[in-house]
Amino acid sequence: MNATANITNSPEWNCIHTNDSETMFPTNFAWGAATSAYQIEGGWNVDDKGPSIWDTFCHEGGRLVFEGQSGDVTCNSYELWEEDLRCIRQLGLTHYRLSLSWSRLLPEGITRHVNQKGLRYYNKVINDLVASDVLPMVTLYHFDLPQALQDQGGWKSPEIVAIFDSYARFCFGSFGDRVKLWITLNEPYVCAKLGHEDGIFAPGVKEPGMAAYLVGHNMLRGHARAWHSYNVLYRAKQGGSVSLAINSDWAEPLDPASPDDTAATERYLAFTLGWFAWPLFVTGDYPEVMRSSIEARSKELGYQESSRLPRFSKDEPSLLGTADFFALNYYTSRRVKPGECCPGVLGLKSDQDAEGVVDPSWPVCGVSWLAVVPDGLRKLLKYIKDTFNNPAVYITENGFSQVGPVDMEDVQRCGFYHDIIQEIARALREDGVDVRGYFAWSLLDNFEWADGFSVRFGLFHVDFSRPERPRTAYRSGREYAGIISKYRSQTMVNI
Ligand code: BGC
Repeated sequence: MNATANITNSPEWNCIHTNDSETMFPTNFAWGAATSAYQIEGGWNVDDKGPSIWDTFCHEGGRLVFEGQSGDVTCNSYELWEEDLRCIRQLGLTHYRLSLSWSRLLPEGITRHVNQKGLRYYNKVINDLVASDVLPMVTLYHFDLPQALQDQGGWKSPEIVAIFDSYARFCFGSFGDRVKLWITLNEPYVCAKLGHEDGIFAPGVKEPGMAAYLVGHNMLRGHARAWHSYNVLYRAKQGGSVSLAINSDWAEPLDPASPDDTAATERYLAFTLGWFAWPLFVTGDYPEVMRSSIEARSKELGYQESSRLPRFSKDEPSLLGTADFFALNYYTSRRVKPGECCPGVLGLKSDQDAEGVVDPSWPVCGVSWLAVVPDGLRKLLKYIKDTFNNPAVYITENGFSQVGPVDMEDVQRCGFYHDIIQEIARALREDGVDVRGYFAWSLLDNFEWADGFSVRFGLFHVDFSRPERPRTAYRSGREYAGIISKYRSQTMVNI
């Protein structure tokens, strides 16, 4: 996830697309942008906020965060929320996706101590959005566990399931009269893999082949408990929808004629998208190919203990059906072949036995992992429709990054937004996918986790060298505003 050079190979990018005159979107399509608390808020220790695992991770040193940076101040949205609102209004967004800082609301992670100042802050944010005719989509957890809970075992501990549920109930009860779209957890894959296998994200645990499965399992159980709580206690009164944001690349065989590449592609998707989507949408359990691959590797390595991939207990409410819509974070695509990684080593990559490569014709933007493949989104949407029983889909994150000298006239990113929105239009019109909305990542340049401030995803530039953190629209921000205004002024005809 380290920064590399900007566009490494250049296809034809331009801002003016002429072939989109047929494009129509449903009138109630959600035009959004997304952020997360740790990445934009700052105010890490003010007004009684408790520390989170990202505060600890960035402060303790020795971690691989770019230049030892942190989200201590970042965009300072805790103090400058009204500036963010101005940006949201300038774009003409219909929806804004934000996350709540759990330890700002509950400094120790539990409801015994509620921080009234945190509650006031989020009430103001939500009230201001609603008053501006912008609907909030609220994520309860975006990577920033209260440190107090990490000290008790964090996501590895089964206790976290009930604790997360009680935090979720607190949030539904406090904000659910105004918030109708909820995401319980953002990208459990990233929390599990980067946080507990590779150790490059907080909490920095490196226990390959073990902790990630346990963490993923407890996250799924926590999500399901929260969904059932919403269903029983709040749905009738509040009428909202609850889901879990799942990140996935689009993947296809490196050589479509090769059975090995095809099987590797199935494993690639099963260990990312399938890991979290299969339990919610298909069987209530993990994909069979994921379990059989893990069991086979365990056997080969002489691993004697019980399965490394936990089983769901029959005594707990089922996971199946605990997503009211499909929340998809899509950034990139891969061509896949069998893995070359570390035979004989316990680890997720060796269990998965699949390697994704970037097609040389795909441009790579900003960060090395981000090959820009807009039509991969359309293919993934079609796959989701066919595999997960035609769910309503919100694309809850998608974006294009910039590194190096700031380019306010970011023509490539303008072209990218046009292209991706055309692909969504085709998915709607030609493939019949029930896409309900699109959230660009991100409203603002922000703290890009291990890449710190070296990578910029914003529609608005933020000047981190100045205390006022001025926000200025990139050309892509103005372009996105134009796209929204154009499609919002149409009425639905041919979808
Ligand atoms: C995360 C964001 C992140 C983005 C770009 C997603 O994995 O949810 O927090 O900034 O990708 O890396």
